[in-house]
Amino acid sequence: MALMRAILIQLSQSRRLRLFSERTSLVQRLSRRFVAGNTMEEALRVAAEFNRQGIAVTLDVLGESVTSARQAREAAEAYHRLIDAITERKLVANVSLKLTQMGLDLSPALAEGIVAGLAGHAARVGSFVRVDMEGSAHTQQTLDMVWRLHSLPDLDGAIGTVLQAYLYRSEVDVDLMLSEGIRLRLCKGAYLESSAAAFPHKQEVDANYLHLAKRLLKSSVRHAIATHDERMIDAILRFVREEKIDPRSFEFQMLYGIRRDLQQSLNGQGYNVRVYLPFGREWFPYFMRRLAERPANLFFLLRNLFHQ
Ligand code: FDA
Repeated sequence: MALMRAILIQLSQSRRLRLFSERTSLVQRLSRRFVAGNTMEEALRVAAEFNRQGIAVTLDVLGESVTSARQAREAAEAYHRLIDAITERKLVANVSLKLTQMGLDLSPALAEGIVAGLAGHAARVGSFVRVDMEGSAHTQQTLDMVWRLHSLPDLDGAIGTVLQAYLYRSEVDVDLMLSEGIRLRLCKGAYLESSAAAFPHKQEVDANYLHLAKRLLKSSVRHAIATHDERMIDAILRFVREEKIDPRSFEFQMLYGIRRDLQQSLNGQGYNVRVYLPFGREWFPYFMRRLAERPANLFFLLRNLFHQ
């Protein structure tokens, strides 16, 4: 399984396979399990449906690792339009973005300017920008940038980021980010990392996840517990009850298309639930990471393919 995961994550970076897949309608149809649509309009309709059930969303305009400043600016424009649409339609929604989509690899200053503009826009309308976490080569830059932007008087509370429990360094990063009151999403981590940077075994990742989650829950900031792992969720609910933590002080987050039953069950029990809703034409790397998380998905999708 670990080998299959490594192969799928490696393939997620293949430009050729990406171009082929994103243009092939059959593969595109398969991606729909995890992607809310090609257009903003489709995604907003799905968002409104979640909201009707009492579930919040975070919208992601798919795209990463852009290769020109023009692409980065276009991505930023799409996010500005999205924040406007969320506001106009009064959706319970915020946005998630990736720094490599905003040009981080071309010019960190370009990316920082773009994200400052987006977080400023979000702050003015009472919304929020979550900077997703990518591979460990980008961790330090991401945390530094979010730290700097969060310290700007107009952006306090409008920007947050993500920590990954598989990284050894998250143990220290969590304290640093908490000391500034920065809102964090805790996830296990979806990229291919060496054992020099990340726990190689799932049991260790899970143990660290719980350890870090408890630290977040004890802080007074509204954090996000992002997992579909029922064992993690059960342990967290026990901890919340034992420590008398206000259930409204944090939120569970899950990905669109994964464990909808669990999303509804937690929502039904009165917990805050937010679904990560990606949309757009550049879905390939995102889709491959979802397959890598659960290689059984690949066999499931292939079976569907042959039974069309
Ligand atoms: P785990 O992988 O142990 O899975 C637990 C159970 O969940 C499985 O047994 C299965 O039932 C179900 N499940 C999990 N993944 C599935 C899948 N793909 N298909 C079907 N079932 C699945 N990562 C990152 O590196 N940077 C980021 O910014 C984010 N952001 C993010 C936001 C949100 C809202 C979520 C929920 C996750 C992320 N992630 C992420 C992804 C995260 O790091 C991780 O790869 C996945 O959430 C899978 O890990 P679980 O915690 O679900 O546990």
